[in-house]
Amino acid sequence: MRLDKFLCDMNMGTRSQVKAAIRQGLVTVGGVTAKSGEQKIDEAVDEITFRGKKLQYRKYVYYMMNKPKGVVSATVDNTADTVISLLKENCRKDIFPVGRLDKDVTGLLLLTNDGAMAHRLLAPGRHVDKVYHVTLEHPLSKSDICRLEEGVDIGDDIITLPARVTVLDRNEILLTIHEGKFHQVKRMLFAVGNGVVNLKRISFGCLQLSAELKEGEYRELTAAEIAMLSQEE
Ligand code: URA
Repeated sequence: MRLDKFLCDMNMGTRSQVKAAIRQGLVTVGGVTAKSGEQKIDEAVDEITFRGKKLQYRKYVYYMMNKPKGVVSATVDNTADTVISLLKENCRKDIFPVGRLDKDVTGLLLLTNDGAMAHRLLAPGRHVDKVYHVTLEHPLSKSDICRLEEGVDIGDDIITLPARVTVLDRNEILLTIHEGKFHQVKRMLFAVGNGVVNLKRISFGCLQLSAELKEGEYRELTAAEIAMLSQEE
């Protein structure tokens, strides 16, 4: 890879800023001051420093965010802040959210620059489990629960896949679904004559939302979590 691309990927600045830094002698490759951004490097092998600091290259990065309300799950938006705008300045620029949570929904959102992994996790045939903590407008009857668990008509060609309902309290349930249709949870509850007052995703596949993450906070996935996600059916 070209040295200037590597430095941009590592968020050391824009293409012109990193080229300027190279001209000023602020970048070394294998202990030798670099002369040009066009220089080819092997990011897996070469030791590269920027302003005296060693850069550790990782092709892919993975973050778990506790999405707050009011931000959209997109990389850019004309009207609202995005989840990407919550990332610190020093984060890489190629990160995107894996799937979407509505603007008024909180909880677990995976962010990465690993397109293949995102594609696999979101593939319709993959049926990755998602668990939502739902605060309802009113309690569910036994027959509502049966209908949700068997599959309901939410206005698409086919009914929803079987889901699982765990009643926590009069107006609170955990709903486990295996699809990710637009507004799915809200539409499922609407289909049984109920409404969603509050919605929070607490797990996505093998990932559980960390209790210590406040809304708007994020952390890198552990190596064990990344390994589990890669094996997700
Ligand atoms: N279901 C919804 O209705 N909204 C979400 O954001 C996620 C699941």
